[in-house]
Amino acid sequence: MLYREVLRPLLFLRDAETAHRAVLERLGHWRIGTHLAERLLNVDDPRLQSTVLGLHFRNPVGIGAGLDKHAEAVSAWRSLGFGFCEIGTVTPVPQDGNPLPRMFRLQPDEAVINRMGFNSLGADAVVANLAAAGRVGIPVGVNVGKNKLTPNEDAAADYERAIHTLAPLADYIAINLSSPNTPDLRALQKPELVQSLVRRCVQAAQPGQPVLLKVAPDFAPGELEETVAAALEGGAAGIIASNTTVTRQGLRSVALAAETGGLSGKPLREMATATVRRVFRVTRGRVPIIGVGGIASAEDAYEKILAGANLVQVYTGLIYEGPTLAAKINRGLVGLLERDGLANVAAAVGLDA
Ligand SMILES: Cc1cc2nc3c(=O)[nH]c(=O)nc-3n(C[C@H](O)[C@H](O)[C@H](O)COP(=O)(O)O)c2cc1C
Repeated sequence: MLYREVLRPLLFLRDAETAHRAVLERLGHWRIGTHLAERLLNVDDPRLQSTVLGLHFRNPVGIGAGLDKHAEAVSAWRSLGFGFCEIGTVTPVPQDGNPLPRMFRLQPDEAVINRMGFNSLGADAVVANLAAAGRVGIPVGVNVGKNKLTPNEDAAADYERAIHTLAPLADYIAINLSSPNTPDLRALQKPELVQSLVRRCVQAAQPGQPVLLKVAPDFAPGELEETVAAALEGGAAGIIASNTTVTRQGLRSVALAAETGGLSGKPLREMATATVRRVFRVTRGRVPIIGVGGIASAEDAYEKILAGANLVQVYTGLIYEGPTLAAKINRGLVGLLERDGLANVAAAVGLDA
């Protein structure tokens, strides 16, 4: 209420990236109020807890990659009631990303189009930020990508390098081959390339550390299944589904729809859920899935879980719904589990797949 009626209109006066930076800077220096927020926003319920990827999650709602690319606000996510966070995408060497503006709000669609292009402080700076944050009490995933100037033939070495630097401070690693904003990156999702790339990333990670592959929602029939199977062959411990879409279906924001980049938020929801379902039909619970795309309510999160997700993440929903989103989703999930007579989140995973 306070967010939608007061804070959001103020934030939306600024362009999307400026508002985003302002919020992150605040959260990064946020000390007073964290205990109060934690008490108000942490939904402590055993039905939300799970062990996934060998890690303990107090609830299944996480921060999606791209929101805290440089690990500037890691301590804040726990206070806002999240069960985990994924920082990055981090590239091995610092790079600026695409020229501004590169992030657009499609308000009537409750969506965002972004073409950030992996703006990154680089692995060394981000590992320093993670070290400064210390243990934050929730699992922290680190999402890695390749530098723009690195040709695809040498991409694996970029991923290895970033992982070498960041793995000691990560609970899991996510390999991003699915951003639409680094030229030709998605070509690395081809099954014949994925297996060896994932294998090299697993070798670069710490022994036993889970390495997950983040996939696009824009696969042709059959291709996603082959890519997922190849990732599992290469040793992937899980799949994150999905990244933003390059499609533009049924958008009301006609002018902004023409902006180049990846679309996220409400219009992505069903596509991302369908992607989770397709992944689950391949994995059948052998490895966990993190469901992401268009989640802005408990019902949306539950839809991903029923489709096969063990955990979920949000990004665009947070822009439109504000800082109470994790609490709202978690409270709502408890109610939905109760309604359906399910003992916990794990019991709901894949029931609709
Ligand atoms: C501005 C912006 C930047 C993003 N940057 C990244 C990124 O660096 N790495 C990545 O894996 N995903 C990135 N994403 C994708 C999100 O993690 C997520 O997969 C996608 O937005 C769908 O979720 P949502 O509808 O809740 O936003 C970005 C999304 C947005 C909106």
